[in-house]
Amino acid sequence: MKIWDLPTRLFHWLIALPVLLNYILEGGESPHKILGYIALVALVARIYWGLVGGEHSRFRSFPLSLHKVRIYLVSLLTATPKNYVGHNPMASWVYLGIWLMVFLLGVSGFMMGLDAFWGEEWLEKTHGALATITKFMVLGHFLGILVDTIKFKRKTWLAMITGKKE
Ligand code: HEM
Ligand code: HEM
Repeated sequence: MKIWDLPTRLFHWLIALPVLLNYILEGGESPHKILGYIALVALVARIYWGLVGGEHSRFRSFPLSLHKVRIYLVSLLTATPKNYVGHNPMASWVYLGIWLMVFLLGVSGFMMGLDAFWGEEWLEKTHGALATITKFMVLGHFLGILVDTIKFKRKTWLAMITGKKE
């Protein structure tokens, strides 16, 4: 079944690849800044798409109620885990969290370049801390994909490339 339309997949990789690369190219050099801004622009595009885009990509269809998160997590411990066509409730929260982090990384990175904040240690520390928190959220994302792959016996990691889910 086709779940993720082309813009959703495109914006995913325009956010994911720069973020991953920025852990290698860390520091204030131009590639790091350019990649950071690419992620930021893609994030703005993704937010727009979340308002007007395809059914499963729309924020309105994210199952965000905490009740649903609990039911979902408990169901993972059973033989009949609850299946969601789009994002599951736990993943929806992780994605909102990652998007917020990418926004804050972009803003704190931009601020470091302003005269008013030049060389401010607290800002550099904040940017580094945000990057560390994001790293753990991305690890959580990978763990979620692994759990989905095992529980539903499907190639979940392919979904953001092909757009299809079994
Ligand atoms: C090799 C690396 C990655 C793979 C294979 C991958 C794969 C996926 C897949 C399959 C989904 C959809 C899950 C579902 O069907 O419920 C997804 C969604 C998502 N991933 Fe990744 N991902 C990767 C890296 C990243 C990174 C580094 C980030 C952090 C910036 C990230 C952030 C997200 C977000 C925010 C979504 C929600 C997408 C949307 O609704 O637009 N991913 N990813
Ligand atoms: C979007 C994702 C981003 C990620 C994952 C990221 C990650 C990182 C990491 C891991 C470091 C090293 C921190 C440390 O040494 O403790 C760093 C440093 C830095 N980043 Fe980013 N960054 C991002 C975006 C940006 C943007 C958009 C800018 C600016 C336009 C920026 C500017 C900087 C600067 C100037 C430093 C050096 C800070 C220092 O001197 O300690 N970053 N970033």
